[in-house]
Amino acid sequence: GMAKKLNFICQSCGAVHPRWSGRCDGCGAWNSIVEEAPLSAGPAKKTLGAQRGSPVALTDLSTEEAPPPRTTSRIDELDRVLGGGLVPGSAILVGGDPGIGKSTLLLQAAASFAKAGLNSVYVSGEEASAQVRMRAQRLGLGDAPVRLAAETNLRDILTMLDTERPDLAIIDSVQTMWADNVDSSPGSVSQVRAAAHELTTFAKKRGTSVILVGHVTKEGQIAGPRVVEHMVDTVLYFEGERGHQFRILRAVKNRFGPADEIGVFEMTGGGLAEVGNPSALFLSDRETPAPGSVVFAGIEGTRPVLCEFQALVSPTPHSQPRRSTVGWDGGRLAMILAVLEARCGIPFTGLDVYLNVAGGLRIGEPAADLAVAAALLSAREDTALPPQSVVFGEISLSGALRPVGQTENRLKEAQKLGFSSAIAPARSKIGDRAELDVRQYADLAAVVGELFGA
Ligand code: TYD
Ligand code: MG
Repeated sequence: GMAKKLNFICQSCGAVHPRWSGRCDGCGAWNSIVEEAPLSAGPAKKTLGAQRGSPVALTDLSTEEAPPPRTTSRIDELDRVLGGGLVPGSAILVGGDPGIGKSTLLLQAAASFAKAGLNSVYVSGEEASAQVRMRAQRLGLGDAPVRLAAETNLRDILTMLDTERPDLAIIDSVQTMWADNVDSSPGSVSQVRAAAHELTTFAKKRGTSVILVGHVTKEGQIAGPRVVEHMVDTVLYFEGERGHQFRILRAVKNRFGPADEIGVFEMTGGGLAEVGNPSALFLSDRETPAPGSVVFAGIEGTRPVLCEFQALVSPTPHSQPRRSTVGWDGGRLAMILAVLEARCGIPFTGLDVYLNVAGGLRIGEPAADLAVAAALLSAREDTALPPQSVVFGEISLSGALRPVGQTENRLKEAQKLGFSSAIAPARSKIGDRAELDVRQYADLAAVVGELFGA
């Protein structure tokens, strides 16, 4: 017969290359390309039933599609990220670094859904059932009606699921699954894709919700969760910083709810605890107002979250000053520095700049621009902002301040947490704010002039 053609597949993004190379053009990862045999095509399946795939007139489709029924886990932080609970037959990917707490979270979720009446199966490919049971006991979930299986053979797992017909199946992790009809090693892109494909197909066919756990990998020998993102309905990432106790579950894709929603947890000795008031948590270590420290009134998903930006500006001993940022985009920092110089006449040449979001939170909203600029200025001028004030607003390249979405929610949260003033763009819809002194500015230069007398 014909010699099998080999593919070179990036284990990070799944891009297929005609030959090996050290760096993937698709995603830029190094040493991520691995030789894999392609999926054997096999005989085409006969499709029966003329109705399947027949088109339906657009006008015949009901416009009032009922919202999907959902089961809540009563772990509010999880239910919110799922879009209001678990949808039957949905496929969910939960990605995250090894050791971040994925197994802990999903064991707790399995127990909660089981207590809410769902028939739940937890399949571990990484630990023996006895180990999982010990962890459950440690989490105080020893009596939860969750069934455990320690298995990596995909065919055996699918047979078991087909017999059990659970409402929820958790597969921990998809990288340990092994399909015996795929000719490459467990953890490779072909294997991970085959497992994800079979399991998501099972989910649709049988109405079982399937949660796939995927480890984020730095090196390319094991496929990362990104290669299955497009196969599932919902993609959640579990994030956290080393040395910080809290964890953020973030929806980056959700067919059944808003993306960008977050759930906040704290890793404790007894597993993950919900953090119902993230603002209080992220501001909890705040000392007395210090130069360089600014509270940003942000929105994460559907929820206002206050957090602290911290900047440090100091003369550089190097020929090339450092620009270092944690929790905020480095390109956006460069843009704000350029606007400060070009529009406000405040240069940062010869100065190292460090910017950090306290507590390890990651902020992606342009609405934080003004908070970043204020933190940089406050650090540079060694002048603290008025105490008990929050800041938000987007900065354009011209130096103008743009109003941002959900202004009222931001202000309401600030007021709730005891702040007394806010610095915001002109023309913001501030609503009725008797208790909050909202100062509005048209451009960055006006903020600089009033707060720092520059
Ligand atoms: P784990 O859920 O095994 O991570 P993952 O599945 O993402 O690899 O969690 C690993 C870490 O969590 C481990 O370092 C121990 C810690 N941990 C706690 O702090 N408290 C707990 O109750 C549990 C179960 C784990
Ligand atoms: Mg694990």
